[in-house]
Amino acid sequence: MNTAHPSIIIDDSEIRQRALAVPRPRPLAEEERQALMARIKQLLQEKNAVLVAHYYTEDDLQLLADETGGCVSDSLEMARFSHTHPASTIVVAGVRFMGETAKILNPEKRVLMPTLEAECSLDLSCPADSFNAFCDEHPDRTVVVYANTSAEVKARADWVVTSSIATKIVRHLHEKGEKILWAPDRYLGGYIQKVTGADMLLWQGSCIVHDEFKARELVKLHSKHPDAAVLVHPESPMDVINQADLVGSTTEIIRAAKEMKNDTFIVATDRGIFYKMKQAAPDKHFIIAPTGGIGASCGSCAHCPWMAMNSLENLAQTLESSDNEIQVDPEIGRQAMVSVKRMLDFAESLRTPATGEANIASPA
Ligand code: 13P
Ligand code: SF4
Repeated sequence: MNTAHPSIIIDDSEIRQRALAVPRPRPLAEEERQALMARIKQLLQEKNAVLVAHYYTEDDLQLLADETGGCVSDSLEMARFSHTHPASTIVVAGVRFMGETAKILNPEKRVLMPTLEAECSLDLSCPADSFNAFCDEHPDRTVVVYANTSAEVKARADWVVTSSIATKIVRHLHEKGEKILWAPDRYLGGYIQKVTGADMLLWQGSCIVHDEFKARELVKLHSKHPDAAVLVHPESPMDVINQADLVGSTTEIIRAAKEMKNDTFIVATDRGIFYKMKQAAPDKHFIIAPTGGIGASCGSCAHCPWMAMNSLENLAQTLESSDNEIQVDPEIGRQAMVSVKRMLDFAESLRTPATGEANIASPA
């Protein structure tokens, strides 16, 4: 049963305003860019630090992470990598919940971020106080939260999941007869409910970036490229998901670009992912799914404004100063570690490649 709780009304207009007000990094001249790249490489070595970058960050940050033995990945692999890497400092280029997850898993290490202002609309939509009250009302449900949440919300959860493993974990719980309380993304929750048939009570948050993909415009675009495969991140609205040839996490979308036979792909997720998609399949063509059309606000235009706050400049400054250190209350961290570790142990038990299977839609 897919049940949205009637008392959970999220007015995300304030969150959207915040996203629109996010400052953009200034463009760099080539000489300056090269000098910063060289300085960052040196600082990473000097500080025994490793760079972990999300697929949505700027190309240069992904390049640096690759070139310095760091990691460019989705949020599950970022967590796993930071947990197993021996460096004493982890530098997370992404958004705050990713830095917090690294700190939860590595309380003894220093976790830095190029900026501590990089938020996530899903995290913002789910304040710990109201979430705790919601959980208190439903003590019979297993609490499963998406990684895109604060440390406090993770501490309340039984399980933390990322998009690449969420379906498997919910299916596992459903098979054990458990009813789920899910937060915060209503689209991802609705999608998992549909795929697994689990009884899920849904928090009503959404990602402001994926929420902008437009189903009607996607139909039109697809009709112009009939041979293209449509790849969709499950944070997108259901009428966009319904048009997908593949619904998957960021890693699964990149893998599909390589493995699917199509020559052209229409992609409904942050355009930062094109950097790795082009590396994975250099001869193929990638088109971003439409965010324009009827009802369009294009506040983000398929690029997360908070991910875009990470830059070479603030990365270098952070490494120089060791400012922007992530702090998590130790007790909250200990509690959150239980639910995050449960996910990592579950992933390990599946013995699948890093981030699991994608859901390739069967032809209608
Ligand atoms: P992934 O878990 O697929 O990396 O997604 C994280 C995210 O924030 C997507 O918007
Ligand atoms: Fe959060 Fe959406 Fe940005 Fe991902 S793309 S970090 S879900 S706001």
